[in-house]
Amino acid sequence: MGLRAWAPGRVNLIGDHTDYMGGLVLPVAMGLGTEITGDRGGNWVMLGSERFDGVAEIPLEGVDDPSRVEPPWARYVAAVVSELQPDNGFVGMIHSGVPPGSGLASSAALEVALAAALGADLDDPVGVAQACQRAEQRAVGVPCGIMDQLVAVAARPDQALRIDCRRLTVANVPFPADAEIVVVESGQPRELASSAYAQRRKECEAAEEVIGSLRDASPSAVEAIEDPLLRRRARHVTTENDRVDALAAALADGQLRYAGELLVASHASLRDDFAVTTPELDELVVALRSVPGVYGARVTGAGFGGCVVALCQPKTRLKLPVLWRGRPCGGASVSGAVTEG
Ligand code: GLA
Repeated sequence: MGLRAWAPGRVNLIGDHTDYMGGLVLPVAMGLGTEITGDRGGNWVMLGSERFDGVAEIPLEGVDDPSRVEPPWARYVAAVVSELQPDNGFVGMIHSGVPPGSGLASSAALEVALAAALGADLDDPVGVAQACQRAEQRAVGVPCGIMDQLVAVAARPDQALRIDCRRLTVANVPFPADAEIVVVESGQPRELASSAYAQRRKECEAAEEVIGSLRDASPSAVEAIEDPLLRRRARHVTTENDRVDALAAALADGQLRYAGELLVASHASLRDDFAVTTPELDELVVALRSVPGVYGARVTGAGFGGCVVALCQPKTRLKLPVLWRGRPCGGASVSGAVTEG
């Protein structure tokens, strides 16, 4: 096999349900990712999967409606090809190391790895991420933001990535040497398309109709929203944006205790104001907080199930189902011979 393209899954340290409202996020790339091996050439993108049955066979000009392609996992392939309309086809295999439905952006890892395999310009992270974000929206109809795709391209080792989702700018935030990220599974799979994700986005947009951009809204403007549900949704987004910058500063200064408190405050906001946690996720956060060496923990990603991220002293012992632990990893890469024709 000539070519190897790879893209990581993501763990969001803080800033959930803010990206699609032009807010701030602070994710990292994890060491688990999706690899695509094979060769460029021909007029089709033909991929098998180690994890799923069936084959994706997509013509280079793409398809009108990727959401109708079978098997269902091939919808992501169809959507990426339709967005990129590459000059050359590809024949190969997908090896996915990010468990699907765990809130770790397995679909973004697949989209970005495929874009890299098809020759997308990884030196233009925003362009690649925007194409893959559109692909995600077309493949499964989820009105997602850009966080997952952008961190999968732009992440650097040992750095968290602060993304300003309004300006589409990124900045590296050094991750402290004496800390470790631990991802713990709740065992509850979550499916974004069937979750209240789109409904939350609509609620935030309804709040913006009352007070204007949530990114610019003052706390007093938020508290003046009459509808109690919209007020809570807006309060989450605005306070979460503030917590992103507070965590970036705390990590850069090595203030790990305060960093942990911010994670816990973010979880409480996602639980009480945004209503996207579950009893299992809430219990996991409580359990983790009682472990010596854990600074703080919160749900990571969209919620409704999935995983919890904890900030810990390195090698903290945990009697919980740890899915991954480590330091921030790098973004997408391509290597090997490129045969085209
Ligand atoms: C999913 C979406 C992201 C983001 C998170 C929640 O992962 O793909 O764009 O909205 O949920 O923060």
